[in-house]
Amino acid sequence: MESSFEHLWSDSIKKMKKSVIRELLKLTQKDEIISFAGGLPDPKLFPIEEIKECTIGVLDKYGPKALQYGTTEGDMRLRGHLVNRYRKLEGLDISEDNLIITTASQQGLDLTGRIFLNPGDVVFCGLPSYLGGINAFASYGAELVGIDLDSNGMSSIILRNEVAKAVSNGKRAKFIYIVPDFQNPAGITMDEKRRREILDIAYEFNIPIIEDTPYREVRFNGEPQPMFQKLDTRGMVITLGTFSKVLAPGFRIGWVIGHERWIEKYVTGKQIADLCSSSLIQMTIAEYFERDLYDKNLKLIIEKYREKRDAMLASLEKYMPEGVSWTSPDGGLFLFLYMPENIDSEKLFLNAIEKNVAFVVGNAFYCNNAGRNTMRLNFSFATLDENVEGIKRLSESIKEFL
Ligand SMILES: Cc1ncc(COP(=O)(O)O)c(C=O)c1O
Repeated sequence: MESSFEHLWSDSIKKMKKSVIRELLKLTQKDEIISFAGGLPDPKLFPIEEIKECTIGVLDKYGPKALQYGTTEGDMRLRGHLVNRYRKLEGLDISEDNLIITTASQQGLDLTGRIFLNPGDVVFCGLPSYLGGINAFASYGAELVGIDLDSNGMSSIILRNEVAKAVSNGKRAKFIYIVPDFQNPAGITMDEKRRREILDIAYEFNIPIIEDTPYREVRFNGEPQPMFQKLDTRGMVITLGTFSKVLAPGFRIGWVIGHERWIEKYVTGKQIADLCSSSLIQMTIAEYFERDLYDKNLKLIIEKYREKRDAMLASLEKYMPEGVSWTSPDGGLFLFLYMPENIDSEKLFLNAIEKNVAFVVGNAFYCNNAGRNTMRLNFSFATLDENVEGIKRLSESIKEFL
């Protein structure tokens, strides 16, 4: 007889559900399926030869150091390259002391939860919001308060009301979580005015903003809006970055930028989590920067993803029935689709899978369980032709449900 292990699980893991996205992704593994589901970069754009050469270069030059433990803060050369890049491109006034390397930005999110959250603390996030962020905070017992998005991102009016309400109810409001550039999942970018309004709310209530920006450099058109980190004058913004979408997610290397008061806590948290991120990989990426390969590859990624976005948008325009609308992102990897209220995207998902096309049900990104008639579509992974054909198949599914 199988014994029960229920009494062994922590309260925290009992509350957590397996990621819906990861579960649904399993259904999309068949070769014949066109998948708009994962947030995957195009593997054909991974610079394999260059990485091979950089790795050999690092092992030749720094072998023992590359295979040794590194500092928790991260490889000094890599931190230097990142700091210089942010100073030059974004006008940030930062030094290496303001930046810690993480095991990609999912660790940045987990450490954020570890540092700030006790059970019952309140976190404010977009409706919809990145599922990995929501889950990371929920695992520390956070109460998530969802704030509606409009075409400029999170509504500052609703946000202010909700923060004030939480505080007046005696709750501990801890931080505001925002993906301001080409948001995952909605593809929306926040304009400067909205960023300033939200910063004012952070100042008024003395809570930090977590600016999660994995897609910022993948811009196809339009003007970049200043980073929250750049607009902030009081050290109230913590920025998370990653190489996952601009180089390779398999590296698992990201970073956190912020005032030293925050970075010190991230270092303590990371010491508990994993001591340090891979020395070899950090040094390989530093080498990649030193050989001037980073911008060359980024340019290619932007060019290819722009074509893929355009193909998907054109196909949506051509095939989608009346009553269906979608966002038109200026960059990133995703767009978001809204169907008439009576269509449940979870039911539609199974029909779509039969037609060999997959997406992520939008509901997964709503901490208040709303958004049942929405879905997230990724345009970076499938080929150009698949982006056209997949949308055609999806439109047939939707028409059957109308
Ligand atoms: C908004 C956002 N944050 C964080 C992550 C995690 O990325 P990684 O851990 O690969 O850096 C993702 C991945 O899709 C994301 O979309």
